[in-house]
Amino acid sequence: MKKFLAILASTLMAVSLIGCGSDTSAGEPAAEPAAEPATQEAAPAAETSGDSDLSTKKVGVCIYQFSDNFMTLFRTELENYLISLGFAKENITIQDGANDQATQTGQIETFIADGVDVLIVNPVNSSSAATITDKVVEAGIPLVYINREPDADEEKRWEDNKWNVTYVGCDARQSGTMQGEIIADLGLDAIDFNGNGKVDYIMIEGDPENVDAQYRTEFSVKALEDAGLEVNCLSDQVGNWDQTQGQQLCANALGQFGNDVEVVFCNNDAMALGAKQAIADAGRTVGTDIYLVGVDALTEVCEDVLSGAITGTVFNDHIAQSHSAADAAVNFLTGAGNEYYIGCDYVKVTKDNAQSILDSLG
Ligand code: GAL
Repeated sequence: MKKFLAILASTLMAVSLIGCGSDTSAGEPAAEPAAEPATQEAAPAAETSGDSDLSTKKVGVCIYQFSDNFMTLFRTELENYLISLGFAKENITIQDGANDQATQTGQIETFIADGVDVLIVNPVNSSSAATITDKVVEAGIPLVYINREPDADEEKRWEDNKWNVTYVGCDARQSGTMQGEIIADLGLDAIDFNGNGKVDYIMIEGDPENVDAQYRTEFSVKALEDAGLEVNCLSDQVGNWDQTQGQQLCANALGQFGNDVEVVFCNNDAMALGAKQAIADAGRTVGTDIYLVGVDALTEVCEDVLSGAITGTVFNDHIAQSHSAADAAVNFLTGAGNEYYIGCDYVKVTKDNAQSILDSLG
């Protein structure tokens, strides 16, 4: 029975296989990401009252899934910062979309019916943004999207119609590039344990509903190639930002490709923590016979980078992003308005600066 379950599990796992190389069609996000920030122009605050007494303003926040550890850091910081700006705790309501768009759409409708003054939305499906925007704009409520960027056509609509809608996030191409650079900086001699002259890697991808997954995959490998390294993708699968799935996918790949796996790229730190466990279970040692990188700079991962248990990560600045999102909400409420795209920089994290990143996280 156990054996049957194991076979079933690995068959199910194979379904999530999206393949190596540039053809990521099965793992592509539903919508094309916005290639460039939509505009630097400020949106007029047509619908807002210009009343700046924040203590009476009601804020609705929708998070795609509470169990996501990066988004937990984000929402905690967002709530604390909103309170520090003068919002009352009882006027801030944060809902868990439970990774289900229908659930989240219902929550947005309830927020509209309750007459919230501003909405901050981390969509479950970024491809549902147009529907969400239409509902919220029709109700005359300003809207700040976070973390999962709507596509370029959608962002253009905000600008064309001069709606009070904006997106706050980082450009994931930068995080992918930084992951690749962390590995490339080690030099081929240090990476090429099997001596075939190539960087043999496995890729563990996040949920394709966030373009971060596609960009981090593409640009981490591109950075290796740009550094003049030849790459060999052994396995590329979707782990949905999840630690358990990351561990299982890494274990499977290590079982299949053994010592040929030289680098494990994970689109986020949760999956890197899972991969770290799989690497230890396989009797391999990060920094000695394999390398491992993630993104987010979770506290535990920064500690692992310091100890050498994880090669590196990239700081996905939830502090700057949550503050920008709250500031954008305030700008809509006071009538100041916002740009249609509000960006933020990632920071490369290696042994050299992991302690200072940890210190900045408090
Ligand atoms: C990414 C982050 C992931 C996950 C995802 C959710 O930016 O790196 O860990 O939280 O957002 O959409």
